[in-house]
Amino acid sequence: MSTTTSIHGMWSSRLMFILAATGSAVGLGNIWRFPYMTSDNGGGAFVLVYLACIALVGLPILMAEVLIGRHGRMSPINTLRNLARDSGTGRAWVGIGWIGIVAGILILSFYSVVAGWTLHYAWRYLKQLFGGAGITDPGATFSALLADPLELTFWHALFMLLTVAVVAMGVEKGLERAVRFLMPALFLLLLALVGYGLSTGYMGQAISFLFRPDWSEIDGNVFLRAMGQAFFSLSLGMCTMMTYGAYLPREGVSIPRVGIAVALTDTAVALLAGMAIFPIVLSFGLDPAGGGPGLIFTSLPLAFAAMSIGALYGLLFFGLLSVAAWTSSISLLEPATAFLVEKFGVKRRKVAALSMAGLCWLLGLLSVLSLNVWSHVRIFGRDIMGFIELVANDIMLPLGGLMIALFTGWVLNRTLLREQLSDMPEALFTTWRWLLRVVAPLLVLVVLVRALA
Ligand code: TRP
Repeated sequence: MSTTTSIHGMWSSRLMFILAATGSAVGLGNIWRFPYMTSDNGGGAFVLVYLACIALVGLPILMAEVLIGRHGRMSPINTLRNLARDSGTGRAWVGIGWIGIVAGILILSFYSVVAGWTLHYAWRYLKQLFGGAGITDPGATFSALLADPLELTFWHALFMLLTVAVVAMGVEKGLERAVRFLMPALFLLLLALVGYGLSTGYMGQAISFLFRPDWSEIDGNVFLRAMGQAFFSLSLGMCTMMTYGAYLPREGVSIPRVGIAVALTDTAVALLAGMAIFPIVLSFGLDPAGGGPGLIFTSLPLAFAAMSIGALYGLLFFGLLSVAAWTSSISLLEPATAFLVEKFGVKRRKVAALSMAGLCWLLGLLSVLSLNVWSHVRIFGRDIMGFIELVANDIMLPLGGLMIALFTGWVLNRTLLREQLSDMPEALFTTWRWLLRVVAPLLVLVVLVRALA
């Protein structure tokens, strides 16, 4: 039997859950990674494949995660243990939870480093607003930041402190309070930047870069990156959404509806970010293709430098990005924290959140050093940060997602699923189940094999 509440607290309303899940989904993945992946992978063609991945793989798995969480009500590992036992299958499925916790720790370690860059940029523009020097040579500024391990470590530490502060306070006090104010602010700020994009006169060109597919650009690799981006952007494959689902009230909440709301919002923010960034890139005569991971850090400051209130825009943009990253990093830390609380009965505030964050911070130092002192170190052809990213994003997330799809599609019985999705029309329910049973696993398998080959 599923219980009605979680020991970790509950969302106070349906809206709160939607805000928190959206806050998790919307982050560096949408605003930093989506534009540069689009830039590097052929524009419209990449975007269309990405949208297909969201619809065919992402949304079904998102619903599955929330459903499992709401049924089980505990941290992923214990939820999966109970569900596997109740379904009479082996304990191997608990591996999903372990993959999730390890992937979360790995992702948070470098996520916090990149979020540190955004904090640093926000700070630079804040100083400029009060008379400090502006960023006039963005390429040099970005390289100088990456070359300075102490500076990187400082911002990485600051970001981790912000994250742990929210997680340590628990669901109602911490997560809710943070998302209630930060998410709406985020949308407003993003809209303002799209408004600026409109004023450049390059919006038409930006839209056609984003949506007019050049099919000659499509190859297996584009597919791989689009799939990875879909998992990363929707926070799937590491039990984040399962954990958030555990705090979701049973009454009055339709999982398909919230799933669709979160997926649509996440996608809209990514597209809006593209619509904010590409008009600026184009209006400066920069090539929208091949921007690389530094895209927003090296191109946008050019625009900010040319604007009369550029410091304010810079502060808003990087402030917005830091906030988006913050509400995501919270969700990366929460599954492991909830597990520690359950497993050892330790106090959430003092021990669980702090020790997990400390571990992630230490691991993050590897990424910091791989940008400078250890930049020559190569593991399977990648630098250390790239390797951690490869293992966590490209291997562990799809693997976790694959197992979640199979577990939900083949192991959980129909009655249980139907009970959780009672408002779903039969035809849609059946479609969803077959997407999980066959379509999503096959697509993910292709991606995984390619990632490992
Ligand atoms: N989705 C977030 C982003 O787009 C990152 C993130 C948060 C995440 N929680 C996650 C990614 C869980 C994978 C799994 O920036």
